[in-house]
Amino acid sequence: MDDHNNSGHSRRDFIRRLATWAAASAGLLAGISLLRQFVPRLTQYQKRFKIGRNNNYPFNTFTYLADRQLFVYRDHEGIRAVSAVCTHLGCIIEKSEDGFQCPCHGSCYNKNGEVLSGAATKDLPWYSLHKDPDGQIVVDQGRLVDSSQKLYL
Ligand code: FES
Repeated sequence: MDDHNNSGHSRRDFIRRLATWAAASAGLLAGISLLRQFVPRLTQYQKRFKIGRNNNYPFNTFTYLADRQLFVYRDHEGIRAVSAVCTHLGCIIEKSEDGFQCPCHGSCYNKNGEVLSGAATKDLPWYSLHKDPDGQIVVDQGRLVDSSQKLYL
């Protein structure tokens, strides 16, 4: 009889522990998904980086920065930076004679990053630039600007 009661107790204890574990796991998963909502905002602040001095960039040329997946364009007035990531499915675009083209599905953009043809429907984003006190150009991928906006030098 006592053995029967003991096994009933241990079964109830086991079920209670299992329920506690399941509730704790559900709480943990809910907490993780809540934290993930803040990740894009946190990474946005990490999207600021230096790209060197303006004289690293030749005039009237789009210079591709592979590690940052962007093109930097410098003219005699200033400097601008545009994303090199195709707005269709994220392939890296290439410079073409009149602008840019995507090797994946053929999207074409003009030199202002506006879609001309292909699968992409959104223009390429241009990023805000500023000059740090140390003289280096800083790209802020968290702040988008119009394609005509440049950092005047
Ligand atoms: S990823 Fe560029 S056209 Fe599809």
